[in-house]
Amino acid sequence: MSETNPKFTVTIDGQSVQVDPGTTILNAARMIGGDVPPPAMCYYSSLKGSGGKCRTCLVEVSKGSEKDPRPMPKLVASCSTTVMDGMEVKNKSSEKVIDARAGVVEMLLINHPLDCPVCDQAGECHLQDLAYEHGKSNTRYEFERRTFDKVDIGEYIKLHMTRCILCYRCVYVANQLTEQREHGVLKRGDAAEIGTYIEKSLKNEFIGNVIDVCPVGALTDKTFRFRSRVWYTKPMDAHRECKCCSGKAVVWMIGDEIARVTARKDQYGEVKEFICNECRFEKKGKADWTIEGPRHIDRSSVISANHYEVDAPEHTPLLNKA
Ligand code: SF4
Ligand code: SF4
Ligand code: FES
Repeated sequence: MSETNPKFTVTIDGQSVQVDPGTTILNAARMIGGDVPPPAMCYYSSLKGSGGKCRTCLVEVSKGSEKDPRPMPKLVASCSTTVMDGMEVKNKSSEKVIDARAGVVEMLLINHPLDCPVCDQAGECHLQDLAYEHGKSNTRYEFERRTFDKVDIGEYIKLHMTRCILCYRCVYVANQLTEQREHGVLKRGDAAEIGTYIEKSLKNEFIGNVIDVCPVGALTDKTFRFRSRVWYTKPMDAHRECKCCSGKAVVWMIGDEIARVTARKDQYGEVKEFICNECRFEKKGKADWTIEGPRHIDRSSVISANHYEVDAPEHTPLLNKA
């Protein structure tokens, strides 16, 4: 470790990386990339306070540090545990982690409906991916499941509380990105739910971003709901002059029509530049946008099966990868 530029070396699933002190295990894993980063359903790098809620990012610390090589006694949440110099971590290479992750998925699915065939999030849902990878075909849960009516929580947004995993991301977006927050997690424990409480509705100009940060299909875009399965649409990078936001978005096209507009997400499903409601909900004409070209979807996703970006030279269809 050099004095002028102190870095910590951390090894995750046998691959080493040098990171700044204070970096979390999850972010160190993302610096390595590939298959190494654990899944993260509640952490969101641009939202303060996010993480530590869903436990999908659990990892095993098999060596604490160079100075104190003892392993950590329990699995830790990688999104909220910082690295130490010489730390060794196991993610996919740990049977304990795989077992615990299957347990977390089983718990997340206890009250979750079998809605994938009709859910707008299908094809870009992190819970669907996790259930595919770790889910069991049967449930051990024998009690009555909690259910909720669907609620309109604003002009443009519908809440399916039954699909919510209480990750708090939408609450942090409303708190940190908009002028006012009109919703939150009401009640506690197994009664906890997202709600607006006294008939308030989400209506400020950046609130549409709650839809993008929601890792599941609990918050849906009323201008797009049930219009198309996402894999039948063609996502295109597009921009427009906007006084409110950067105007950089993805327009999801069906033929020549713009069916929905979202912000641009990275391979971890995170938005780096949030967009305003006007761009998202009110600009659905092709003339409203300058279309730049096909959006490359980095995540392993059924959207990539469409091969719509075949003309883009840098594109390697994900399904054709070994
Ligand atoms: S939120 Fe995801 S897992 Fe749940 S029904 Fe929708 S697509 Fe399926
Ligand atoms: S509605 Fe979505 S973003 Fe909000 S807490 Fe539930 S799962 Fe998370
Ligand atoms: S991403 Fe770490 S606990 Fe949810």
